[in-house]
Amino acid sequence: MTDQTSQAARTACGAIRAGDQGKAVELCGWVNRRRDHGGLIFVDLRDREGIAQIVFDPKHPSFPDAERLRNEDVLRVRGTVRARPQGTENAKLPTGGVEIGVDDLEVLNRSEVPPFPVNGDDDVDENLRLEYRYLDLRRPRMQRNIATRHRIVKAMRDFFDARDFLEIETPMLIKSTPEGARDYLVPSRIHPGTFYALPQSPQLLKQILMIAGFGRYMQIARCMRDEDLRADRQPEFTQVDVEMSFCTQEDVLETMESCMRDVWKRVLGVELGPFPRFSHAQVLERFGSDKPDLRYDLELVNVTSIFEGSDFVVFKSVIESRGAIVGLRYPGGASLSRRDFDALTELAKQNGAKGMVWIALGADGVKSSAQKFVGDEHIGALRYSLDAETGDAILLFADARPAALTVAGRMRGEVAERCGLRDKTKYAFCWVTDFPYLELDEATGRPAPAHHPFTAPGEGQWEFIDSDPLAMRAQHYDLVLNGFELGSGSIRNHKPEHQRRIFEMLGMTPEQIEERFGFFVRALEYGAPPHGGMALGIDRIVMLACGEDDLREVVAFPKNQAARDVMMDSPSAVAENLLRDLSLRSTAPPPER
Ligand code: AMO
Repeated sequence: MTDQTSQAARTACGAIRAGDQGKAVELCGWVNRRRDHGGLIFVDLRDREGIAQIVFDPKHPSFPDAERLRNEDVLRVRGTVRARPQGTENAKLPTGGVEIGVDDLEVLNRSEVPPFPVNGDDDVDENLRLEYRYLDLRRPRMQRNIATRHRIVKAMRDFFDARDFLEIETPMLIKSTPEGARDYLVPSRIHPGTFYALPQSPQLLKQILMIAGFGRYMQIARCMRDEDLRADRQPEFTQVDVEMSFCTQEDVLETMESCMRDVWKRVLGVELGPFPRFSHAQVLERFGSDKPDLRYDLELVNVTSIFEGSDFVVFKSVIESRGAIVGLRYPGGASLSRRDFDALTELAKQNGAKGMVWIALGADGVKSSAQKFVGDEHIGALRYSLDAETGDAILLFADARPAALTVAGRMRGEVAERCGLRDKTKYAFCWVTDFPYLELDEATGRPAPAHHPFTAPGEGQWEFIDSDPLAMRAQHYDLVLNGFELGSGSIRNHKPEHQRRIFEMLGMTPEQIEERFGFFVRALEYGAPPHGGMALGIDRIVMLACGEDDLREVVAFPKNQAARDVMMDSPSAVAENLLRDLSLRSTAPPPER
């Protein structure tokens, strides 16, 4: 090692700046790209912080080694920072004004040729990315996302710490906590034939921590749910999980809203205004969804009364059966062709519509799929109530009221997408409150809690429990961002008799209550304080903060669409003797390889 290099301080590649000229530095990183140019060899050396240009002189002894460097080889170089010759600066890179003349090169490791370019933002097959996740994660976008995730979680921890919340770890091997999904089960070796469940959330444990007197709890909690995957759902995910004693719904909303405001300011430098609040009934009526995207208006309007007395058989029958006609404005939609409208109608049908009437308010006149039945008086009233202008189109959905609203809500999202209104740099949060206690479970067709059975009914709602449970409202609230449910929470049942009553309403016998939740109801019997809380999905928060469309872009090691870890090849079969130790035998055919 030369004198000069022994003085070199190790520096991040991306941290070198114009002011560093003349400094001796040591850099470690990966070869992002090698260029042989004008007798010199240029290597872009990459680390977490960015890229530095290092230059090999043909007269230097390291030159032959430099000629053999390939992308993703790992290097340590020592050298001196100097200005790039005039005209060769790269204004796009923060390090673009300088380069490092190499004095010493050490090749720490070689790389095979990567199965996809690490140095570009090319579209790469998802499974290939996941199989070679270590290479995928080297890409700047992924490095940025994972670092943002760290900063968001850190900001959350700091926020709750400053408000006297304690982070308390809860176990992973527990008894089932119902959150509406299937449990992942872990067989017990010591107690053959029995199983632990992995937590779908720490719900019951955090409530028990309130009974235990901790008052303010938070946890960055890992949750596992065996459910169908979607872009915003992973089988394992992370929540910022919160519970508070002696609190009102208002206290929880204020806490979580302040947390989000703090995180957005600290991590993204964005000041958020107060989050608007809507009741569940309001969001369904105005946006056709319980997770409305408020980055744009396009509010739905019930236009049934405009078509009172209409001869159009579809409208007539819907009005007679007390259904609704819901209108949606399509800004600029008048320029669509008939064929475009046909395709849009088809899409509406795929989204559950029985059909769709379109009206194009063209500058050269009005066209409609129900031309004969849409007269000037209708058009005038529709223009007024939907705030539509010449050049727009109006889409109408007629059905039973909830169905018409839901379809119109889905098409509202589609129209917004087509009109470029889903701006990823905009953050529109809102609260949805006053949920119904029960909703019909799509899978079973039976009423099930819209949140979970530990939620307390709203004030004055107990009286409906026998007469009309479906009308009962809950002290349940959701936080929504840009059309995604970020989190849910509720005020809980803290009286054991209330909790039992809810279980009974859900059709559980006293024996079933004892078997599944005996430990919990017993805990409520020993002075449980009034309490409530909430959990926000961190993966979804980071996804939206990073402007990504899929949780996989912000989770270091996610599962693929088939819930597999393709890098580790998991789930996988295990040896017979392991199964025997667990008193298990597989009835499944051997897995295909
Ligand atoms: P909930 O089940 O609504 O409530 O979950 C809260 C939030 O967790 C996130 N989330 C998910 N994220 C990624 N993949 C998934 N599969 C997934 N499932 C849920 C969402 C969701 O809004 N114990 C209650 C909270 C409480 O009452 O305090 C609970 O878990 O962002």
